[in-house]
Amino acid sequence: MKFFIDTANLAEIKEAYDLGVLDGVTTNPSLMAKEGISGKNNILKHYVDICNIVDGDVSAEVIATDFEGMIREGQELADLHENIVVKVPMIAEGVKAIKYFSNQGIRTNCTLVFSVGQALIAAKAGASYVSPFLGRLDDISTDSLQLISDMRLVYDNYMFETEILAASVRHPMHIVECAKIGADVATCPLGSIKALLNHPLTDSGLAKFLSDYQKTNS
Ligand code: G3P
Repeated sequence: MKFFIDTANLAEIKEAYDLGVLDGVTTNPSLMAKEGISGKNNILKHYVDICNIVDGDVSAEVIATDFEGMIREGQELADLHENIVVKVPMIAEGVKAIKYFSNQGIRTNCTLVFSVGQALIAAKAGASYVSPFLGRLDDISTDSLQLISDMRLVYDNYMFETEILAASVRHPMHIVECAKIGADVATCPLGSIKALLNHPLTDSGLAKFLSDYQKTNS
């Protein structure tokens, strides 16, 4: 399972990368705004800065919602760095854009996916990644993990190469459950990645090992 970090914060990206388990980054306009990154040139430069930290795929989202605009923006994003994956929303114009990019050999991440039907369409259009949003489904009392499981079944039935990129991850158990189901990627906040490595028995066990060592070596 690949781990991506879902942030535009350079310090967090570096911390996750230094941990040695990071395979990529996803961003979106909200995450860029959260870091105070605005204006086209600053946004493009920020994507390059991210690509220079991480050796892996970096999703950069188009703002346009019409086909021509998405193609123009997506091409510009793809030209920034070979690791850029163009993030396109799951709307009809977006599906057309994904098909276009797929034909051009430009990789895409279809975002804002909430149903198996949407996931099927995105895969047929040739999306490299499809991003089902777990937390936002949970927020409306809908079983997000069932969606991941159903997507896995459908993609395996037809051997789609599209990767399931679990997004809107809110806690470490989302990651563990996605790994059990077989999601290809989870994109996570730094806190959820770090929470995976914590266990109170590890802490108390280590404290005991160290105190026993001190007793006989001081
Ligand atoms: O990966 C998508 C993510 O950024 C959305 O997360 O918590 O706003 O639903 P959230």
